[in-house]
Amino acid sequence: MVAMTQISAQRSGTFKIGGELEVSRLGFGAMRVTGPGIWGDPEDVEEARRTLRRVPELGINFVDTADSYGPGTSEELIAEALHPYPSGLVVATKGGLTRTGPNQWHPVGRPEYLRQQLELSLRRLKVESIDLWQLHRIDPKVPADEQFGVMKEFVDEGKVRFLGLSQVKVEQIEAARRVIDVATVQNLYNLTNRQDEDVLTYCEANGIGFIPWYPIASGELAKHGGVLDEMSRRLEATPSQIALAWLLKRSPVMLPIPGTGKVRHLEENTAAANVTLPDEDFDALTNAGLQQPS
Ligand SMILES: NC(=O)c1ccc[n+]([C@@H]2O[C@H](COP(=O)([O-])OP(=O)(O)OC[C@H]3O[C@@H](n4cnc5c(N)ncnc54)[C@H](OP(=O)(O)O)[C@@H]3O)[C@@H](O)[C@H]2O)c1
Repeated sequence: MVAMTQISAQRSGTFKIGGELEVSRLGFGAMRVTGPGIWGDPEDVEEARRTLRRVPELGINFVDTADSYGPGTSEELIAEALHPYPSGLVVATKGGLTRTGPNQWHPVGRPEYLRQQLELSLRRLKVESIDLWQLHRIDPKVPADEQFGVMKEFVDEGKVRFLGLSQVKVEQIEAARRVIDVATVQNLYNLTNRQDEDVLTYCEANGIGFIPWYPIASGELAKHGGVLDEMSRRLEATPSQIALAWLLKRSPVMLPIPGTGKVRHLEENTAAANVTLPDEDFDALTNAGLQQPS
């Protein structure tokens, strides 16, 4: 096991978002510092604050959030715990999903709504410009070019530095790139769900950061007694660390953002940067065709 003093996300290597903004590849997903159903305050708000404050101490300088986490709660807690932000900390947020209750998410891509949400994110995060703003979902009810068009305005106005997309197919990235520069793509991807290999390949070929959400399958891949147990014992790493180490080795454009509201889990996950997955183990996991336990 890795000693606490040695844990650093910096060991995961770096990636330059948009070819400019350098981050350590192992980041943090701030969706879990909210209540059940990603709604309202977390049950233990002090632990959530401690978790957020621990993020930069562990060498993490890439934090992912969204206006819709709470809604508002995650961005507010990030600002409360970390503002004024340490130099080099990149806070990425998203807009484009509205909330009607716990676990309910609906895309709304009308340009005036996206603009309102950007303004609210700027206010809550206490910044004049967002480092990376991602369209959470392309709204099928609104012409895609209208959504990309207002995103271009955000950059032209200096309110956003880089733009990203989420849960998209290759054709949609190509359509967006006719209007905007796409710096990152955030899609569901982990050891047991690799339906978007073609998107990852496209991102690699075009220098686009690929942010896999659900990197430890919502905790399933962190469980003992699961598929990663034998390797876990042999490599003296926890199952979640092996799942994250596999992602980091899978591609140099991979930017995993494991999510938690607990310091202990944050430290465990960040120590994945210290785990070296031997080539044979990486290949065995890649070829195992693992299915997410139901
Ligand atoms: N773009 C999108 O549409 C989208 C969708 C979903 C998520 N995301 C982003 O992706 C990030 C990651 O996704 P995610 O949080 O859903 O999934 P995840 O990182 O795969 O799993 C998080 C879950 O696993 C638990 N967990 C974390 N570390 C653990 C550990 N070491 N041992 C045991 N359990 C552990 C957490 O609970 P505890 O809090 O109890 O640790 C939480 O319930 C989010 O935070 C968010 O920023 C984006």
